[in-house]
Amino acid sequence: MPKPSEPHRQVTAVLDAARRRLGPDGATEAALLLRHLLGVSRAWLHTWPEHMLTPEQAGRYEALVERRAGGEPLAYITGHREFWSLDLAVTPATLIPRPDTETLVEQCLARLPAETAVTVADLGTGSGAVALAIAHERPVCRVVATDLSEAALAVAAGNARRLGIDNVEFLHGRWFEPLTARRFALIASNPPYIPEEDRHLHEGDLPFEPRSALVAADHGLADLKAIVAGAPVHLEPGGWLLLEHGYDQGEAVRRMMSDTGFAQVETFPDLEERDRVTAGRLTATR
Ligand SMILES: C[S@@+](CC[C@H](N)C(=O)[O-])C[C@H]1O[C@@H](n2cnc3c(N)ncnc32)[C@H](O)[C@@H]1O
Repeated sequence: MPKPSEPHRQVTAVLDAARRRLGPDGATEAALLLRHLLGVSRAWLHTWPEHMLTPEQAGRYEALVERRAGGEPLAYITGHREFWSLDLAVTPATLIPRPDTETLVEQCLARLPAETAVTVADLGTGSGAVALAIAHERPVCRVVATDLSEAALAVAAGNARRLGIDNVEFLHGRWFEPLTARRFALIASNPPYIPEEDRHLHEGDLPFEPRSALVAADHGLADLKAIVAGAPVHLEPGGWLLLEHGYDQGEAVRRMMSDTGFAQVETFPDLEERDRVTAGRLTATR
C-alpha cells in the first residue's frame, strides 16, 4: 500500500514504467491495463497524458502490471475479451475465446439462412462465445448451450443477460446428456483437443486456462470422437455438425465424420490458413 506521503504520479510516467516492465508488447498492454483501472477510453489517455494518479491508483496499477508480468492472461486481469464484436466477461473458469473460433461461427452462419427459425446447439460453450455470436446474428433461432463446468455456464449466462441476448438456453452436463431427446438443425462445438503431452500447454495463456477446457485424451481426439459419435441422434434430417479442432487434426476429423455417415465433409482454414473447422451434413437420421 502506498504511504500517505507518496507523490501523485503522472499518466505518462506510470505508462513508461509499465512498458519497460512488460517488454516487447508492453505499450499496448500497459495502456489497456491503465484504461481498465481508470475506466477510461483510449482517446482519454491520449488527451490527458499529464493527468495525475493518486498514490492509491498508482499502487493498484503497479499490482496489475506485476500480475501481467508474471504471465497471467490480460483477459483474466481485465475480466473481458472481445469475440465477434461482443464484449464477453471471462474468468479463470472459462477458456479465453480465440479469434480462430470466429471461423467456426462464420461456417455456422453460412449454413443458417437469416430468416429461418431453427434450433442450434453449442456444446462446451465456455464463456458462451459461439452460442452468443450465433444467437446475436440469428435472433429468430433458438440456441442451446451446454457445458460440464457450472462455473463457466454461470459466466456465459451472465454474458447473455448483460448483452440482452435472450434466445439462448444454458444447460449443464456432459456433451449430449442435457439435450435428452432433442434434435437440432445444427450442432457446433469447440471441444478440448490439445494432446496431453503438447508442449504448447506450458506457453502463453494456456497454463492459466482450465485444463478441462484444453486437453483431451487419445492424442487430443477423444472429445471430438465422442461428439461425432453422439451427434446423429441429435440432428434433424439434413442437419449439420461443425467442429473446431487442431491444425493437424483435419484429416482425422474428416475420416471420423465420413465413417459415421456424414456427407459434404469439408475442412475450413483459420486466419492463418491452417485447418481449423470441419463440417459435415447428416443425410439420413438415426
Ligand atoms: C475449448 S473450450 C471452448 C469454450 C468456448 N466454446 C469457446 O470457443 O471459447 C471447451 C469447453 O468444453 C467444456 N467441456 C469439456 N469437457 C466437456 C464435457 N465432457 N461435456 C461438456 N462440456 C465439456 C469445457 O468446460 C470448456 O468450456
